[in-house]
Amino acid sequence: MDATPKSSRIAGFHKLDIAGRIDSVARFAQLDAAEKAHLADTGNLPPELADHMIENVVGTLNIPVGIATNLRIDGCDRLVPMATEESSVVAAVCNAARQCYDSGGFTTSMSGMLMIAQVQLTGVSDPQHARLRILEREAEIRELCNACDPVLVRLGGGFRELEVRVIDTIAGPMVIVHLIVDTRDAMGANAVNTMAERLAPHLAQWTGATSRLRILSNLADRRVARARCTWKLADIGGESVRDGMLAAYHFAEADPYRAATHNKGIMNGISAVVLATGNDTRAVEAGAHAYAARKGRYGSLSTWEASADGDLVGVLEMPMAVGLIGGATRVHPTARLALKILGVDTAEQLARVIVAVGLAQNFSAMKALATSGIQKGHMALHAQNIAMMAGATGPEVDLLARVLVAKGSVRMDTAEAELAALRAATAGGT
Ligand code: MEV
Repeated sequence: MDATPKSSRIAGFHKLDIAGRIDSVARFAQLDAAEKAHLADTGNLPPELADHMIENVVGTLNIPVGIATNLRIDGCDRLVPMATEESSVVAAVCNAARQCYDSGGFTTSMSGMLMIAQVQLTGVSDPQHARLRILEREAEIRELCNACDPVLVRLGGGFRELEVRVIDTIAGPMVIVHLIVDTRDAMGANAVNTMAERLAPHLAQWTGATSRLRILSNLADRRVARARCTWKLADIGGESVRDGMLAAYHFAEADPYRAATHNKGIMNGISAVVLATGNDTRAVEAGAHAYAARKGRYGSLSTWEASADGDLVGVLEMPMAVGLIGGATRVHPTARLALKILGVDTAEQLARVIVAVGLAQNFSAMKALATSGIQKGHMALHAQNIAMMAGATGPEVDLLARVLVAKGSVRMDTAEAELAALRAATAGGT
């Protein structure tokens, strides 16, 4: 045992190449040669690319990418790549989409492609007066913002609107300036943050305030994607299934404890497509949950009703700040491929596909919960994970998973015992 105390102060770690960093981490964590080789294998993301995407890179983490089939969105069939570590998520979307395919699939729309950047102004003695002084300079502000990104302006985007709010805080009133910007096919964080930073000194000078934070808001409520869909009563198993699903929705709408899980299910679908396309999952997740609480209490992101014909109709509306350029979307080769498979031409189309996937995911979760429960479907795939963790390889994985499900005991101890029995039986038979 090494008696030297471990230190995380590794001078120059960031200056090392990947191999050097792996050596350094290996010394710290006593990694053996096989473990070092595992880290060094970056799969289909070239190491030099990974090394430029984030800091202090020592490896990559592969997440399965599955394809959601059966999706018909605005009359167009699409195959949707989903990156997720959770079993059942891809199957849930396929199942929901199959049950509405013949009745037309999903219809989507978008409120706009506007992002909001905030500039915080403090120490203003006359905040209401200052608010108007800023609003009067809208033309000047438009010019300053647009000058930050002539390419965006050439593409039809740029500054759209000015909003100035006076908010009460525990430290007194603050003047909050919103720059509302059309960022076209970019998610837009860089564009709007640059504008906010450029504008802040001017705002401070015009108002005598101190300008402080200058950053986008992830509550992208000017960039709301909407999806709706009708599931025919006959295709979902009749009235009792529909009513069970409606009761599940009513529960989520009334109770934040349930709404959090209901929305997590929606995000299972949303985040998987956001990740597969190299977009910022945290930005979308922050926007989703803030939007779910916009009425003052956290509630369901989706709404569910029975139509006049008795069919089940679902609606999902939520902020969807995703892009086709910027971030990892153009850099990551798998994200580029995911976008090619999706066949979307604009960020708006991508946002609309994603929200349809979220609605599909929500449908399947509610249907499973309102009928047989989720464990039945979940366990079949979970059993495969347990089988692999117990050491099963090749055809053993399926075989062992089936045994675990049949026994109703998807547990490590059962898996280890059954794998040993399986191998003994195979050895005995040869
Ligand atoms: C599990 O990842 C997602 C669900 O919990 C969603 C829900 O409860 O609606 C099944």
